[in-house]
Amino acid sequence: MATNITFHPGSVDPAERNALLRQKGVTVWLTGLSASGKSTIACALEQHLLHLHRFTYRLDGDNVRFGLNKDLGFDEKSRNENIRRIGEVSRLFSDATCITLTAFISPYRADRALARDIHEKAGLAFVEVFIDAPLDVVEQRDPKGLYRKARAGEIKEFTGISAPYEPPEHPELHIRTAECDVTEAVRVIMEYLTGHGYA
Ligand SMILES: Nc1ncnc2c1ncn2[C@@H]1O[C@H](COP(=O)(O)OP(=O)(O)OP(=O)(O)O)[C@@H](O)[C@H]1O
Ligand SMILES: [Mg+2]
Repeated sequence: MATNITFHPGSVDPAERNALLRQKGVTVWLTGLSASGKSTIACALEQHLLHLHRFTYRLDGDNVRFGLNKDLGFDEKSRNENIRRIGEVSRLFSDATCITLTAFISPYRADRALARDIHEKAGLAFVEVFIDAPLDVVEQRDPKGLYRKARAGEIKEFTGISAPYEPPEHPELHIRTAECDVTEAVRVIMEYLTGHGYA
């Protein structure tokens, strides 16, 4: 932890920034098993919001691991740090008035609670969306062939197989992707965002 650092206040307060840019930031945090549909839904939602000319950006699991978090693995400590950094980055995007969509497995409750806390301490909304599908369904989908590899013991610490997934207890939204299609998932999230003045 660095010492001798001082936080420099913003040039305008958050309400003025929102008014000037005519948008209020929010982080929509998608969590769920691999292949539950986080990236698919986040992409569709991003496209929908962009066509409404909303300032929107998606932070996605593997993509972030190619750059910002390329030094991190998948053991519990690395996963904690992965989510802490994403929590901080999404807070910055939200603070800049972006509708920030995050698509990370984020399997640990404590990590998601930390990401929420980072936002709430900054006066920013955090919308946790549980993208839920049963293990047998995601294993059947297996778009990246990861479950097959995990079952064969070729991937260690794979969420749902050899590493835990702790489902959200009180998510703002709970979407069951074995029971609804992508369009319906986007509709449900949009309803929440418009209902709360974010889109
Ligand atoms: N209702 C649905 N919503 C989202 N995806 C669905 C749905 N039904 C089937 N699918 C399919 O399930 C797969 C979901 O893959 P996707 O990459 O979005 O998962 P993910 O949660 O981002 O996984 P990962 O954590 O590995 O990145 C896609 O092949 C998608 O077409
Ligand atoms: Mg994904």
